[in-house]
Amino acid sequence: MSFAPGILEGKSAVVTGGATGIGAHIVRMLGSLGANVGIVSRKESNLIAAANAFKTDNDIDVKWQVGDVRDPEAMKAVMTSFAEELGNIDILICNAAGNFICPTEDLSWNGWRTVIEIDLNGTFNCCQAALPYLKEASDGGRIVSISATAANFGWPGAAHAGAAKSGIQNLMKTLAVEWGSYGIRANYVSPGPIEGTEGVDRLIIAQGKSEQVLERIPLGTFGEGKDIANAIVFLASESGKYISGAELAIDGASQWVR
Ligand code: HXC
Repeated sequence: MSFAPGILEGKSAVVTGGATGIGAHIVRMLGSLGANVGIVSRKESNLIAAANAFKTDNDIDVKWQVGDVRDPEAMKAVMTSFAEELGNIDILICNAAGNFICPTEDLSWNGWRTVIEIDLNGTFNCCQAALPYLKEASDGGRIVSISATAANFGWPGAAHAGAAKSGIQNLMKTLAVEWGSYGIRANYVSPGPIEGTEGVDRLIIAQGKSEQVLERIPLGTFGEGKDIANAIVFLASESGKYISGAELAIDGASQWVR
């Protein structure tokens, strides 16, 4: 780890979708640096397994709540509980996402709606639900949402996710302006392909596209979960205090959907 030990001591963070994939890497990094962390996702079994692993592997005590980011009332209840359990919510990481590959001409309305609701509406729901607590953060609340560099271009087979992630980008820019007077910073991190994630496994490897994608990444490898977690810490800590409304792309200069 390249950050000073304890730099997030006294901070409370909520990571949506924090039980698996990139979210779990973010939780490990935030917790290892001293933050009190809460995670929320739909599957209780994933949450229990993750909480046990964080404790066993990293000695991190994580609080968890079952909840679907698509449900605004549920997210209000979840954020209120986390604020009580963790002391406040200083940092909100909107990471929960859904995605699958389907050509747009075959995509059902429900398939479109489902991804928009998880990714874009879910981010809105969590930001609004956490707002009362982010306003109370002593050094200014931090929101970091996970987008995707693929959303900056056409994303063949993922029109739903591309549109949702683009929407998240503008939502963060808008919150940076609207909520700046509350001291809240809102930014987004845009990962390229990150190894060991469901996204890469299903959207790239299972489609037989690994070689084709790797050829289009100038740095020659998929990213690692810790690459994203490092960026989150940078934005959520003192180092990021004057950054708001910004994108941090972490994709090895990937050209894979361009
Ligand atoms: C076509 C599909 C489909 C597929 C689902 N649908 N999978 N259509 N091809 N492969 C359709 C269904 O038929 C249904 O429409 C609608 O989508 C809703 O499906 P459900 O299974 O009922 O939805 P739900 O249980 O809510 O599951 C959500 C999900 C699922 C997004 C579909 O994949 C999921 O839960 N994923 C969570 C984890 C995830 O995807 N993580 C990866 C994120 S990767 P009909 O019309 O039949 O009712 C990412 C960035 C990747 O975000 C970047 C890579 C570089």
